[in-house]
Parts: sequence; structure tokens; C-alpha cells
Amino acid sequence: MANHSLLLLGLLSLLLLLRSVSPSDLTLPPGATFPSTQAEKLIRGLNLFPRDAVPTAASAGADEPKRIVEREFKIPGLLGSEGVSVKELGHHAGYYRLSHSHDARMFYFFFESRSSKDDPVVIWLTGGPGCSSELAVFYENGPFKIADNLSLVWNEYGWDKASNLIFVDQPTGTGFSYSSDKRDLRHDETGVSNDLYDFLQAFFKEHPQFTKNDFYITGESYAGHYIPAFASRVHQGNKAKDGIHINLKGFAIGNGLTDPAIQYKAYTDYALDMGIIKEPDYTRINKLMPACELAIKLCGTSGKAACLASYLVCNNIFNSIMKIAGNTNYYDIRKQCEGSLCYDFSNMEKFLKQKTVRDALGVGDIEFVSCSPSVYQAMLTDWMRNLEVGIPALLEDGVKMLIYAGEYDLICNWLGNSRWVHSMEWSGQQHFVNSPTLSFEVDNKEAGQTKSHGPLAFLKVHNAGHMVPMDQPKAALEMLKRWTGGKLAGPSSRPENMISAV
Ligand SMILES: *[C@@H]1O[C@H](CO)[C@@H](O)[C@H](O)[C@H]1NC(C)=O
Repeated sequence: MANHSLLLLGLLSLLLLLRSVSPSDLTLPPGATFPSTQAEKLIRGLNLFPRDAVPTAASAGADEPKRIVEREFKIPGLLGSEGVSVKELGHHAGYYRLSHSHDARMFYFFFESRSSKDDPVVIWLTGGPGCSSELAVFYENGPFKIADNLSLVWNEYGWDKASNLIFVDQPTGTGFSYSSDKRDLRHDETGVSNDLYDFLQAFFKEHPQFTKNDFYITGESYAGHYIPAFASRVHQGNKAKDGIHINLKGFAIGNGLTDPAIQYKAYTDYALDMGIIKEPDYTRINKLMPACELAIKLCGTSGKAACLASYLVCNNIFNSIMKIAGNTNYYDIRKQCEGSLCYDFSNMEKFLKQKTVRDALGVGDIEFVSCSPSVYQAMLTDWMRNLEVGIPALLEDGVKMLIYAGEYDLICNWLGNSRWVHSMEWSGQQHFVNSPTLSFEVDNKEAGQTKSHGPLAFLKVHNAGHMVPMDQPKAALEMLKRWTGGKLAGPSSRPENMISAV
């Protein structure tokens, strides 16, 4: 296929380039696993698997095999839930056989709210591209955390305290999601958003009691690409009266990559402001800017090869900053980069390798891939695409958007996010631009600064890096509650500690 040879050609030049420059990446560290040269690794990376890993009980007894196979589970080692039955927990894990794929299965978690089944349904997407949402389940906003002895402890600030919470592993090849067929790799947001939409349809068919609830899409990092596309896909499906109506109320992106032209330009400004680079570096690195801007423009108009080229050209900017920043953690400039993902997530890998856990989740022998290099590579031509373009239409139809960002993240920094949000053209733009910056208070202290008008809200979160719910769990849960409840600024809208049954 022409597409594939273009991609191959691009990858070849990429390989050459990588000899001197390491790639920037929203979740993989420079050079760690990318690009992998061993075919074996690539195959494992895609989670190619010859057998059907869905448990046998799944398809038993049905002429027409069910597309969705779900089980209620209680993860072994969960502390403080003795005497609580699986049913009471309302924790589900499942595989969805993707409708428009050759053989792809999408893995997901569904945690019913600990507070009320009437809470909104919230789906979370981790970025990468190619990183598992289990990173969020166990380190950010999931119901539990992994202790060093691999016990699970309840997360006091899990988003399941205020929502019925879904985590999916996607695109295919990520986390526990897999396919036996290479053609199921996704290369763009059309493929990604169609799969997610198909999943949602199957999910609500399986859980019809939740279709009336408000529905929100959330996520982080490269999900700044996924989310606008997914929200548009849902909105379009609703308008066309396709399948089940999805009660989409809004979408939220945390430290996302959405409008690369603006966000790449903000790198040097942010780095200078934060003292990562000095004035002469700033002037020198900024000389790379016009080429990057031009390349992004070409990507917007002439497709795939130009998009790969712009990825290479523009990432020189980020790489030049990192050459000066050294081992600084580019997800949190207060820290040093440690471990293969700049943080130590090894407990998750250990936890998910345990047979008892795998049996509880029904994942068979599928290898868990926390961040897949093959999924990442397959999405390279998507990277520089501008996903801001579909957002105004959603806002005009009253779908809410929250853009939030931890202030110490470099790679998807708040400055670049603030700029694209301000420069987005829609009917409320001037009002938004002119609206005051308000304090976002948690426990009578400023936890961030926010600005909003109509359906649009922006929040800069203090003392947080790229992973806001990990660094500021309480503020992040407050943010979710207030935003879905209608008002972000000001003091707590609800008294504390009136929730939590478990
Ligand atoms: C494991 O760690 C948790 C949290 O620190 C603790 O509550 C629990 O008692 C520990 N379990 C064992 C078996 O040591």
C-alpha cells in the first residue's frame, strides 16, 4: 500500500535522524524503546496473539457471539473491602470485539461510582500514543493505588467517588488490548474515534441503566488528540440518530497536545520563563521555529508524508531544550527523569503479571504493554495534526470543554494550552478572553487559577506536573466534581466527607 511505503520511507529517515537526535514523546523517554529495531519486539508490542484470549464462558451458548465480554471482579489484595461482595463493588473488566476491525479486542475497566449510580459516566483515555490507561487506574484517578507489597489500597480521591468511571486501553495494541492482525493498527483520529464510538455503543447496550446519565470524555497528554475527535464522533452519531443516544455533556483534556502549531511555539517561551534555558539559547532555538511552522502548515494541507516531516522538524525544538535541560523530567520540571517512563511504574507491571490478578481480570495470557512502541509509530503521521479545528462546532452546540494543565509540565505545558484556548475562534471567544482569572480554591487555599465563559473553561493547576490527578489528587477530584456540577471557580461546592460508602 502506498500509505505504508510512505510511512516506511519516513521511518527510515527517522532512524537516520535518531542517531543524533532522540525523539520527543508524550510518554516514552527519548530513545528508550523507540524505534524498536527487533521484529520480535514489534510483534510483542502490538500484542499480536494467535489465540482468542476471551474466556471460554464468554462465547458459550450463543449462536451469534457477543461482542462484549464482561466480568465483575474483585482484584486479589484489595485492602479494606472484606465482607464486601463483588456485586457491591460494581467493578467490571471486559473485552470488546471491535466491530470495524479484523480481529481487535479492546480491554476496559468499568468502576461504578462509590457515591451514586446517578453520577455522570466518565471515560478516561491515557495518551502516548500507545500508553495504557492502567497508568491512570493505579497512579492517578482510579479507585485504588498499589502499595509496595503489591496490595491495593483505596484511593481516597479516585474519580469513581464522583462518577461511574470507564478506562479503556486503546488504540489496539495498547495495554491489554490486542489483535492478531496487523491491519488493526490505527494511524489517525478517524480510526481511533470510530473504535471508541463503537465501544461506547456496545458499552451502553451492556449497561442500559447508565444511558440516561450525563456523559463526559476525559484524558491526558496525547488524548488531547483523541478527545476532540471522539467527542465530535459521538456528537455526529447523536445528530444522525445512529444507535444509542449518548448523553454527551462535555470533555476535559489534561496537559494535552491539541494544536501543535501553537503549542510547539510555546516551548521556548515556557522554558525561558521557567529558567530551563537562557536568553541566548532562546534566540538560537527560536530560529528553528519558521521551519516548524511551515512544516505544520504543509501537514495540514498535504497529508501524511508532510506530517511525518513536521514531526521531525518540530521536535528539534523540544530536543534542543532537552539537551540543555539534561535529565530533567519533562513531565515535571521540578524532578529528575527516573526509570523508563521518567517515573517508576514498576509496581504496576509486577502487579499485572500476577496470575491471580490476570485470572480476576480475564486477560488470559495477553502480555500487558504499558506503552507500545508499535502503536506509537503507527500514529506518527497523526502527531502534528491540529485537533482544535473540530472544537468550535461542539462549543456552539453547548458541549462543554475544560482544558486543564499542571503548571510544571514542559512537554504539554500550560502556556501552550492557554494560548490555543485563547486564540480559538468561536462565538464566545471575546467574552472568554476578557473574562477574569479566578482562584480555584480547595480547602480555602488556591489550588489553581481558572478562567471560563459559557461552555469553555481553562484551569492551571498549582504544584502539579503532567499527571495532575497523581500530583494533586484532591484538587483533581474537586475539579471533576465542580466542572461536571457546573461551576469551577470559588470554594468547594459541596461539603467534604459526605461521600464514600466503601
Ligand atoms: C501491605 O501494605 C499495606 C499498605 O502499606 C498494608 O496496609 C498491609 O498491611 C501490607 N500487607 C502485608 C501483607 O504486609
